[in-house]
Parts: sequence; C-alpha cells; structure tokens
Amino acid sequence: MKTQHPISQNLPGHRVRAVIAGTGSYLPARVMSNDDFTKIVDTSDEWIRTRTGIRERRIAAPGEATSDLAAKAGERALQAAGLNATDLDLIIVATVTPDHLLPSTACLVQRALGAERAFCFDMEAACSGFIYASEVARCFLENGAVRHALVIGAEKMSSIVDWTDRQTCVLFGDGAGAVIWTRAEDGRGLLATAMGSDGRLADLLVVPAGGSRKPASAETVAAREHAIRMSGREVFRHAVVNMAQAARDAIEKAGCTLADITWVIPHQANQRIIEAIAERLELPIGRFYLNLERTGNMSGASIPVALDEAVRGGTIRPGDRILTVAFGSGLTWGASVIQL
Ligand code: ACO
Repeated sequence: MKTQHPISQNLPGHRVRAVIAGTGSYLPARVMSNDDFTKIVDTSDEWIRTRTGIRERRIAAPGEATSDLAAKAGERALQAAGLNATDLDLIIVATVTPDHLLPSTACLVQRALGAERAFCFDMEAACSGFIYASEVARCFLENGAVRHALVIGAEKMSSIVDWTDRQTCVLFGDGAGAVIWTRAEDGRGLLATAMGSDGRLADLLVVPAGGSRKPASAETVAAREHAIRMSGREVFRHAVVNMAQAARDAIEKAGCTLADITWVIPHQANQRIIEAIAERLELPIGRFYLNLERTGNMSGASIPVALDEAVRGGTIRPGDRILTVAFGSGLTWGASVIQL
C-alpha cells in the first residue's frame, strides 16, 4: 500500500484526513478445530459450522498475553508503513481482554515497541472497539495534535471463555490487527463514521465478575463469573438491525451510496449475521470479506485482522472504498467508510 501512495500528499481541493499508512496482524500458532471442542463439550463440527460458519480458531499460548499479540501486529503495521516506533505519537489498543486492569495494554505495547514519544490508552467498546478507536484517532489526526497513530484491536478471548458453556466457547478466537493512521490531503482517508450504543441492553453480553461490581473472590471463580455470559439469540437480533443501520448511516455521512463500496469488512462474529446484513443492505455476500471460518470471533481484533489479510492478499487495493461495520457488548455498534 505504501509503495502506491506516499504517506503524505497535498493535492488541491482536498481536506486533511486520517489515512491508512500500513496494516499488520498476528494470530497465535495454535489452531483449535471444531472437532477439538467435541472432546470438552457436547457439540459437533456440523452444528458449529452450520450455526456460525466457523471451522477453526487460533488460541494463544498460556504465557502469551494480549499485549504480546498486539505488539507483533503493531510491528508488522510499522514495517508496512515504513515507519519506526519512535515516529508514533499515539497508541490506542481496543480490547476487552487487557493484560491487567491497570496499566493499560497500550502502555505495554508502547514498551514492547519502544514507542517512547507516544501517549497511550485503551478503548473498551467490545467488538466495535476498532471502529471507535479509529474514530478517536481521526479526531487527533485531523486537528493536528498527532501525526502518526497506531490503532490496534487485540484479544485473548480464550482467557474469558467459559470452556464448559457450549453456546459460547465455540465462538471465539485470539488474535490482533493493527493500522497505522497518518495524515494526508489527497482524497484518501476515513471519510465518515457512525456509532451508537445502548446501555439498556448491557446484560445481554457480560463478564459478571472481576471489576468493581463483583471483585474476584473464591465464590466468583467457582461460579465461573469471570467468563462471558451471552443471550445468543437476542444478541443476534440486535446485531443484524444495528449493523445494517450503522452501515447506512456511515454511507450517508460519507456522501456516497452502497454502490460506491468496493468491499465490506464486517465484524466476524457469525456468518449468518453477516448474510442477514447483506440481505438487508441488498448487497451480494461476495462483497463481504470473510475470514471467520479460520479465526472465529476475535472481538475488537476481528476487523483489523480481516483488513490486513485482505490488503496483504491483494483483495483490497489502493483506490478501493471500504465499509467496516461492527457490533458488540455494551451494546455498541459502528461503521466507517474509508477511501484507500
Ligand atoms: N453445539 C451443539 N448444540 C448447541 C451448541 C453447540 N455448541 N450451542 C447451543 N446448542 C443448542 C442449544 O442448547 C439449543 O438446543 P435446544 O433447542 O435443545 O435448547 C439449540 O442448539 C439451539 O440453540 P440456540 O441458542 O437457539 O441457537 P442459535 O441458532 O441461536 O445459535 C448462536 C446460537 C450461534 C450463539 C447464535 O445465537 C449467535 O450467533 N448469536 C450471536 C452471537 C454473537 O455473535 N455474539 C457475539 C456478537 S458481539 C461480540 O462479538 C462480542
């Protein structure tokens, strides 16, 4: 991507925008197949494939934490952008599985990369986190406060999965994706974002304990309250409605139409959710970039990993206009239109 587009160009008639200078991703080595789950819960490859579209997912090693995955993805994005870690002014990590309650995972990534000039913080918007974090970075870039921002979606979902709950444990995977955002005035960039939240539905997807409401205790561990609890059907319904609406809102804000979108990069939670959105938007499913078959739902990491794979694989090219769209716990949702 960098070779096609110099990082910064000034072309008359364009405003300063946040543009993608490089992408990177990292998936842990261990592959866990659907068949592997049949040894721990009452399920089958057939059920998981037909209900979700997932065949396998990656699982981090026991000593591997979210910041380890994030730093590797960040390094690859820096390489793709042709930048050094010391060029970074800002690091945001979107995650629901931070290494610790404090410090932020972003500060740990800063240390791992040696990005000493950057200011760093985490963003918690669950599966919508990458879209929220990119929108926050856009504000800093467009107002001139920062020149290079590293936005990472990184998750070790295996650390908050209830391995005895067949309805949820089969859905998730670990990984990290990263984007270096910089500034340019050449028509490229993050054109528009639409975001929304509904805290009234907070209980549909929740990790009950481990925060201030229910600090960790022997009882919370015994009750498996440090793992995800999800009302799958309800989440499914809200995901379809809100992702389709967010997509329409972002497109309208960007002043374009769905016909202008080359590729949609959706949050990779469930193939049936994505098919339902495609139907609502009256877009062929072939215009959606899908990798969930190999990754499962990586929450905040899912869009940047898919984006990086699509860029490196040559599916997404300079000049394309892409739509990212996500939905997650909170509830939160969002969509962005990005001109590459
Ligand atoms: N293997 C076999 N059977 C199962 C499994 C499993 N892994 N999980 C559930 N079942 C059974 C249920 O017990 C139920 O059996 P019953 O009819 O005898 O009671 C039956 O399958 C149907 O269960 P449902 O929950 O109704 O199945 P559904 O078709 O809704 O699929 C799923 C469940 C895949 C979780 C779906 O609801 C879903 O995808 N929801 C959205 C989940 C999601 O994407 N969450 C994340 C979005 S936000 C984020 O990314 C954090």
